[in-house]
Amino acid sequence: MRIAINTGGGDAPGLNAVIRAVVLSADNRGWEVFGIESGYDGLYSGDPDGVVRLTPGSVRGITHLGGTILGTTNRGNPFKVPRTLPDGTTETVDRSGDVLAGFHKRGLDALIAVGGDGSLRIAAELAKQGLKVIGVPKTIDNDLAATSVTFGFHTAVQTAAEAIGRLHSTAESHRRVMVVELMGRDAGWIALFAGLAGTADVILIPEIPYDLDKICEKVESRYDDDDGFAIVVTAEGARPVGGSGTYVEEHPREGMPRYGGVGERLAEEIEQRTGRETRSLVLGHLQRGGAPVAYDRILALRFGAAAVELAAQGHFGCMVALDPPHIHAVPLDEAVARTRRVPTDGDVVSTARALGVSFGD
Ligand code: F6P
Repeated sequence: MRIAINTGGGDAPGLNAVIRAVVLSADNRGWEVFGIESGYDGLYSGDPDGVVRLTPGSVRGITHLGGTILGTTNRGNPFKVPRTLPDGTTETVDRSGDVLAGFHKRGLDALIAVGGDGSLRIAAELAKQGLKVIGVPKTIDNDLAATSVTFGFHTAVQTAAEAIGRLHSTAESHRRVMVVELMGRDAGWIALFAGLAGTADVILIPEIPYDLDKICEKVESRYDDDDGFAIVVTAEGARPVGGSGTYVEEHPREGMPRYGGVGERLAEEIEQRTGRETRSLVLGHLQRGGAPVAYDRILALRFGAAAVELAAQGHFGCMVALDPPHIHAVPLDEAVARTRRVPTDGDVVSTARALGVSFGD
């Protein structure tokens, strides 16, 4: 077989491990693998290197490397490809036909699409048009319900937890409140896990709207007169009771709304209400960078090898998923239908509450 692989959406630690597992598993079956650059762009960009042959030599030593050797994009929807008109305005055109034509022209039999909910929705649409597709779930947000965890998540948590741990020394030295904003889009998984691992006093997640009075109550409880400090971890999608999220770009022309600014907003409110010196920081894309932790490498390698096995079985239109201890196949339509948000009655929230962590409620 001649199979293609692409990576779409935000990058995540572990993508290169998937690519390596796909290439080696396929090569060991005598198959050829081709990498499509930057989502689907490589198929119709006209760039001769838009689709490249991947051999074992191409993927040597990349399991531990963050990012993706194929490049990716958050704006790579072949059904809505932006085009600039002569008058300078832009429109979007459906180039999904070019995807299938590109596969046919190159004699490609199937696609392994590695991505988050947005990319996998595109893969599901292409499957309906006849493309043989197998999805591999990827996102640091861990918000894909069809798999018990996505690779990238544990690395993001490790990065964030270490950063939060570093904040304790400066917070204690200055007797300050430190507010750190983490990624996660509409789910609070990273903030919850990293906040608990990093010994935060307050953890704010989109699933539990916050009350500023409750946050300040907890902050004040951390001080004994002028001695003390507090660590507040907030997901970028956290919002006040009855309020909305804080956005950098709420209605972008393309792509998803971009959260940003809730940490700074909270810091101003906390300082104003408590009088305690407060600083905020945004961990941002550091959570997407760096070498994947061993757990994510292993999960990504398992996903990649499983995707090739499914292709060998002719089982397309599905996504590999972890249902501990097994990796199994889930229909793509079903896989992208449900996102997973933090269960507010789950044991991790309960554990945090038992330790005295405030969720601002
Ligand atoms: O989906 C992964 C993610 O990192 C989200 O947590 C975050 O909100 C978004 O991507 C950031 O997107 P971009 O890289 O386009 O700024």
